[in-house]
Amino acid sequence: MDKASSEQIEKIARLACIGESTSEIVHELRNVLAAISGFTQLLSGVEKGQQQDKYIRKLLAAVDRCNQIAKNILEFTQGGEARKERQDLRGIIIKALRSKSSVFVFDNIKVSTHLPDRSLEVIASDFQLHQVVFNIIINAHYELLKVEHKVFVIRGFKQDDRAIVEFTDSGKGIPERNLEKVFEPFFTTKHEGEGTGLGLSISRNIVEDHGGRLWARSEEGHGATFVLELPLVSHEPEAGMTPEPQRLKQEVYS
Ligand SMILES: Nc1ncnc2c1ncn2[C@@H]1O[C@H](COP(=O)(O)OP(=O)(O)OP(=O)(O)O)[C@@H](O)[C@H]1O
Ligand SMILES: [Mg+2]
Repeated sequence: MDKASSEQIEKIARLACIGESTSEIVHELRNVLAAISGFTQLLSGVEKGQQQDKYIRKLLAAVDRCNQIAKNILEFTQGGEARKERQDLRGIIIKALRSKSSVFVFDNIKVSTHLPDRSLEVIASDFQLHQVVFNIIINAHYELLKVEHKVFVIRGFKQDDRAIVEFTDSGKGIPERNLEKVFEPFFTTKHEGEGTGLGLSISRNIVEDHGGRLWARSEEGHGATFVLELPLVSHEPEAGMTPEPQRLKQEVYS
């Protein structure tokens, strides 16, 4: 079978998969829209102040959620090639973290990043990798809201010719029997209206399409770690130069 027909078949399989889940996805979207409508009504009846800020934050989170669902569905159905260029993986991680940093502060989550001083250069679509990192971050955020001790640590380093990034949260963790299942499309343990179960399956597809791997390890009750591994752009050290030792930088958000 040629490449075009096998891609076509894969696309049809994805559409069929979405087709089977249409009612859940529509239900999910309607729940978020109901939340938006509810908070808008509440907003119109409150004075300016803390209560108003709270409703606005909830509204914005609900809009974010709709966008994320839409993006994930598009990505899942269309898949396909995205433009890949040299990227510094550190920049993608920092950008994704920044977009959630005020929420982390608000929710009392301590975030620390340990990234090397020198770039982690990979060939990638920054849009797609941002989506992977963002999916991992929002999952961790969701889990951390359920526990008292809220810590999220991101550690990036080079290992041979690979860039490795570990995202570790202090949430409840994942039971061993689900460590692989979490990457299946539509697997979710979230309540109705809170998750479609697409985030990690899309993320793994994207990472594998970049020649990398994405997996999870966890000890139930002791948090979860998602490990992202990508091939590094190879750098030939110049003659007579020894590579600088890698130092780790710590950046604490809250
Ligand atoms: N950091 C984590 N700690 C514990 N469980 C997790 C973590 N991240 C993911 N999971 C588990 O993996 C499941 C699947 O995650 P995935 O991101 O694919 O879907 P979702 O978050 O449920 O929904 P969606 O991402 O589509 O909104 C989650 O429902 C949860 O059970
Ligand atoms: Mg998710």
